[in-house]
Amino acid sequence: MAVRFVDLEDRQGKTSLFDRYGRRIHYLRVSLIDQCNLRCVYCMPVRGNHFTPKAEWLTPEEIETIVRAAVSVGFDKVRLTGGEPTLRPDLLEIVERLAGIEGIRTLAMTTNGLLLPKLAHPLKQAGLTRVNIHLDTVKKPSLNRIMLYTRFEKVWAGILAAEEAGLLPIKLNAVVLRGYNDEDVADLAALTLDHPWHVRFIEAMPLGPQATVALERFVSNAETKARIEERFGPLEPAFDGQLVGEARMYRIPDAAGFIGFISPVSEPYCDSCNRLRLTADGKMRLCLLTDHELDFRQALQEGGQEALQALFARAVRAKPVGHQLRSGVYPLIRSMSQIGG
Ligand code: 5AD
Ligand code: SF4
Repeated sequence: MAVRFVDLEDRQGKTSLFDRYGRRIHYLRVSLIDQCNLRCVYCMPVRGNHFTPKAEWLTPEEIETIVRAAVSVGFDKVRLTGGEPTLRPDLLEIVERLAGIEGIRTLAMTTNGLLLPKLAHPLKQAGLTRVNIHLDTVKKPSLNRIMLYTRFEKVWAGILAAEEAGLLPIKLNAVVLRGYNDEDVADLAALTLDHPWHVRFIEAMPLGPQATVALERFVSNAETKARIEERFGPLEPAFDGQLVGEARMYRIPDAAGFIGFISPVSEPYCDSCNRLRLTADGKMRLCLLTDHELDFRQALQEGGQEALQALFARAVRAKPVGHQLRSGVYPLIRSMSQIGG
């Protein structure tokens, strides 16, 4: 990768932040809460979770201030995550505040969908662009084992509600684990035959307290793709073979939707990483898989917009080149639910 030491570049009057490796960093993921109403086996232990007390959550106003600073230095895409972001009682206020910021192209959310039957329409009205919904399998017995504790019908109702509200395109995310849902991947892929959805398979990443599950039950996307092709024949590359977000996209010939493969472990895409991650308690993670954080709440309280802009420049400059999973280095201090995927 070419190394360019440019961090603030003025392009046609627009400010952009570039890191030391020439990557433009313009995508901010904002974790709103580290709690979840599920305990998916690769993500959260059933017991023994320590959650950030409500008093330490960033307030809607603080989130807006940090996002405004982000937009002023060139960020244009924001995703709300959790834990489960729909558990924030002030979610609609947060979405409204962020939707009002000029310069954000996409305001998306990652959710398990359970609360969408109630929230999809108000979220759309508040200005949310779209949602990614978590669905590991369409087989009920498998789902009951991997997505603790919910039922297929509840997630399905959430998906339909999002579609009905126009939070499009619907993207479904499945983490594949051996012995849990690896044999169901073709059934999940079959959803794309009739629905114009993106069904995306994610390789399990080892992090936090559930790292062992991800390591021991790891299934590569090469294997998942082969299993899908056994049923449907060769998948057609879609979107010119480019990564869409972090997914490599394909299609079953003549299907209504798309199949994506997100392969952080077998084919790391660190060299096109464009994001930073804000945690619910106001820390900025520079990389999902590296335990390095900067304190944005402190900057906000002590110096306002200017301090935040300077800290964004510092964060981008300090962004690591990539993860070191291949050398057996795993981040341990936070689980996925505390960082937001
Ligand atoms: N590996 C990969 N993806 C994960 N997610 C949660 N835990 C893991 C993991 N260990 C994903 C889920 C969800 C988002 C919050 O993060 O698919 O969509
Ligand atoms: Fe909750 Fe999402 Fe983690 Fe499942 S993957 S436990 S739904 S945060």
